[in-house]
Amino acid sequence: MRAVKFERGEKHTVSSPTSQLTHIIFPALARSRKALDLARAVEPRPSPPAPTDDVEHESTSFFAWLFGRVGMDSRGYRVETLQRRLPACLRVLHASSLSHARRILEETPSLVSVAMSATLVGVTSFFRDAAVFDLLRQEVLPSIVSSRAGMYVWSIGCSDGAELYSVALLLAEIDALVGGLLLGTDCREDALTRARRGCFDADAVTRVPPELLRRYFVETEAGGDWQVCPQIRRSVYWRAADIMRAQEPGAWDLVFFRNAAMYFRPEVAESLWELLEKSLRYGGVLVVGKAERPTSAKQLTAIGPGVYRRIRT
Ligand SMILES: C[S@@+](CC[C@H](N)C(=O)[O-])C[C@H]1O[C@@H](n2cnc3c(N)ncnc32)[C@H](O)[C@@H]1O
Repeated sequence: MRAVKFERGEKHTVSSPTSQLTHIIFPALARSRKALDLARAVEPRPSPPAPTDDVEHESTSFFAWLFGRVGMDSRGYRVETLQRRLPACLRVLHASSLSHARRILEETPSLVSVAMSATLVGVTSFFRDAAVFDLLRQEVLPSIVSSRAGMYVWSIGCSDGAELYSVALLLAEIDALVGGLLLGTDCREDALTRARRGCFDADAVTRVPPELLRRYFVETEAGGDWQVCPQIRRSVYWRAADIMRAQEPGAWDLVFFRNAAMYFRPEVAESLWELLEKSLRYGGVLVVGKAERPTSAKQLTAIGPGVYRRIRT
């Protein structure tokens, strides 16, 4: 029996000698190093910056410093993505320049997470991309659940948890919430704090079908907000992790990696698609964002918009 320690100090069994089928331990460290090496291989430009490149150079070194503060490497991200987020980052810090921003962050380290959240877009919603969730509800989830007890679902870049909670609601509807593992990971602690609370305002729950809202949410006493009910909250686990540094070991049934890889440098994203493909069990499903294509993963076949199944080749 192998047990992994999760949030809230609980132990969750991920493998049992009787089933022998559940989580396979992959050489995660070697694979995650590969992704990290890729990020590192993208060295800063060797030549001194021309005057027109000054702003880019300055912001690149600011982000290298900012990401370094939380143990991350900004070189895995597209330069233009980070550049675009610069005004938002300065705004939340009330900073007039990059050097001012840096001074503020040095004086008030608790603002580092605020700056990171302004830099890494966390937009998400319940049942985002209706066609994807229709396919999951009608075909993917019932077929996996019919073949074995317990379902292993990993949401990477889970943000405030709306994506993973959406799956949990669908699984609860078919009595398949217990016996597996639902895990959400994100590099931003503050997003995970919101995910753990499972509290959403009225706007955020507009895409939750009314019958599911009635059954699985509780309106907060103050009114206006909706909290995911304890039964669902107890079934999901959240962990802070940088996907460029570490992959979760396992033979997953369903992996969501949506709307995050598009911010990564292409070579980093490609390396991750290959690693994630191998972390799916055969027949397992990878869900990506509308603008993403896991072309480097050769064992995946499209079964719907942004939905891929791992097949034996
Ligand atoms: C745009 S949101 C997508 C949320 C959700 N997957 C969806 O599609 O609705 C991207 C998320 O990826 C997270 N993210 C960005 N870089 C990451 C990294 N290196 N490791 C883990 N999460 C990351 C961000 O913090 C953010 O919450």
